[in-house]
Amino acid sequence: MTADPDKSRNLAVVDRVQKYFPVQSTLLSRTPTMVRAVESVTLRVRRGETLGLVGESGCGKSTLGRLFLRLLDPNGGRILYDGQDITRLAQSKLRPLRRKMQIIFQDPYSSLNPRMTVREVVAEAIRIHKLAKNRREEQAKIAALLEQVGLRADAMGRYPHEFSGGQRQRIGIARALAVEPEFIVCDEPISALDVSIQAQIVNLLLDLQETLGLSYLFISHDLKIVEHIAHRVAVMYLGRIVEQGPTDRVYDNPMHPYTRALLSAMPVADPTQKRLHALVEGDMPSAISPPPGCAFHPRCPRVLEGTCNQEVPGLIEATFGSEHRVACWNPLVEP
Ligand SMILES: Nc1ncnc2c1ncn2[C@@H]1O[C@H](COP(=O)(O)OP(=O)(O)OP(=O)(O)O)[C@@H](O)[C@H]1O
Ligand SMILES: [Mg+2]
Repeated sequence: MTADPDKSRNLAVVDRVQKYFPVQSTLLSRTPTMVRAVESVTLRVRRGETLGLVGESGCGKSTLGRLFLRLLDPNGGRILYDGQDITRLAQSKLRPLRRKMQIIFQDPYSSLNPRMTVREVVAEAIRIHKLAKNRREEQAKIAALLEQVGLRADAMGRYPHEFSGGQRQRIGIARALAVEPEFIVCDEPISALDVSIQAQIVNLLLDLQETLGLSYLFISHDLKIVEHIAHRVAVMYLGRIVEQGPTDRVYDNPMHPYTRALLSAMPVADPTQKRLHALVEGDMPSAISPPPGCAFHPRCPRVLEGTCNQEVPGLIEATFGSEHRVACWNPLVEP
């Protein structure tokens, strides 16, 4: 790894993290079967930036997002937050940091307690971290938060089911903001919403980033949205980052055949596997027994037999000193 010239700007970092999940194995096997969800990933989110994370369903995006926040313990590697190694930090010491790191989910409804009013949902976060001196201050804080996310103050006494999907996502954002975070993992925050509502939520996230200086890890299937919101992008395939770099560089000059396939599938309204399958053969292999070498090689149009199927390519700078990196033995070259 080369020295990072901008180290001081790094806020959330995962360093060669790995996460395996044990799964139900057959009766006869003695060793537990493992899903290799994340395999040696190094990524940094800088202060005030949005890092987009894209890839097919099941490639490990949510697992990686949860590792950043140490909502999961990694099997290997390190997690750093604001320069501090939090990989093995005791829960009691982690608590003050938890406040600074929040997550918003795809389905705002299932992540909101249906029996709590909006006031209670937001107040709970404020109370856990003792962020208001008294009830009056708490009330004022909740009102200000609701306004900040574009909800009327009279939303307070209502229940989540009384709101539309977009409004519920605003409640989820208000809850995350209640603890004055610095870093938010946005795990497909708009995928469940109507297309007409998606842009409103994206614009809200952009506004909040500007006014509050937030940093985001933005996980999404939608490459168009990522192009709009992310300063840098990382492309994930079967537990590994195969390409990363400034968003415009990666979108203009994708160097990994997989990135190119993803981007070629982009212009359609819904870039689902169907289109992708027209460009790359077969399905994403199982993370229980990933192919040897480059995990993409069985589907790759540029495969080099004898190399790609034998050795895992490292994530290498496209040109010396470039932030654009690709993990491929036979990359497409920048023009
Ligand atoms: N708690 C768990 N136990 C066992 N396997 C898991 C667990 N969580 C995730 N996995 C597996 O790990 C792999 C990565 O899952 P993950 O949810 O991180 O993918 P994803 O990229 O977020 O997918 P999606 O786009 O569908 O949300 C998948 O094979 C998944 O089945
Ligand atoms: Mg996911």
